[in-house]
Amino acid sequence: MTIIVDQPEFGIGGEKKKISNSEKDLILDGGFVVPHANSFGHNFRDYDAESERQEGVEIFYKTNHINQTYDYVKKMREEYGKLDKVEMSIWECCELLNDVVDESDPDLDEPQIEHLLQTAEAIRKDYPNEDWLHLTALVHDLGKVLLLPCFGELPQWAVVGDTFPVGCAFDESIVHHKYFKENPDYNNSAYNTKFGVYKKGCGLDNVLMSWGHDDYMYLVAKKNKSTLPSAGLFTIRYHSFYALHRSGAYKHLMNEEDKENLKWLQIFNKYDLYSKSKVPVDVEKVKPYYLSLIQKYFPEKLRW
Ligand SMILES: [Fe+2]
Ligand SMILES: [Fe+2]
Repeated sequence: MTIIVDQPEFGIGGEKKKISNSEKDLILDGGFVVPHANSFGHNFRDYDAESERQEGVEIFYKTNHINQTYDYVKKMREEYGKLDKVEMSIWECCELLNDVVDESDPDLDEPQIEHLLQTAEAIRKDYPNEDWLHLTALVHDLGKVLLLPCFGELPQWAVVGDTFPVGCAFDESIVHHKYFKENPDYNNSAYNTKFGVYKKGCGLDNVLMSWGHDDYMYLVAKKNKSTLPSAGLFTIRYHSFYALHRSGAYKHLMNEEDKENLKWLQIFNKYDLYSKSKVPVDVEKVKPYYLSLIQKYFPEKLRW
């Protein structure tokens, strides 16, 4: 039996490596142990597995790919960039998010706070000095509050799933690419070329990404003047941008800072994926540590 894991190193995007499963667990950089299966007993992020969710995930991506247009993203950024919905701290948001289940994710069937803390704690164990990365892990999925009524109760396709640039051609490495044919931008000559509305090396900061929890949390952090380093903000905004960090697509839009930040995103990403297994975290025990990081990198109350 073999399993397929991503090569997370910068510059190797797109390649997959077959590794014997005889040792049951894989050891990645930093000594982090990758369990061989997720909570459903399938391999991680294996969209072809005979999973109960497979059909739902495909319908999800069809809707997502048809509706995520350049105009739609602009409209959502304007609306949610106002940050006029709610005031609350990062920790309050973690608790609020607890009931949300992400339909697009074939690996995850646990409360969100478990996922956030499992990811953060796994990184903390291997990178004890990068406290900004621990906090980045804690907050990376908080934008999923968009699914809740007080945030407009957006449909799943507008909140979760893989993200990709709009305003230029949809790369073929994007999951279920075939459904883009029904996206109005697909036949719009302003948006369907390699560069579209962008310029070579313009920097991902200047690129509109499909709307979802990643970009929303990035806006919240930035507009509330978080002191997280740029690699932390980059990780938040692009953590679902698999076409970039798995397949190496869209590198022609990156600038030098993006290339540096991508290295951290790729470290983060293996923890985001592989900590989605049943390793319980004692929330009350780790809470004081994360509260201290919140105080360091975010103001008391945030506008959302
Ligand atoms: Fe996420
Ligand atoms: Fe995540």
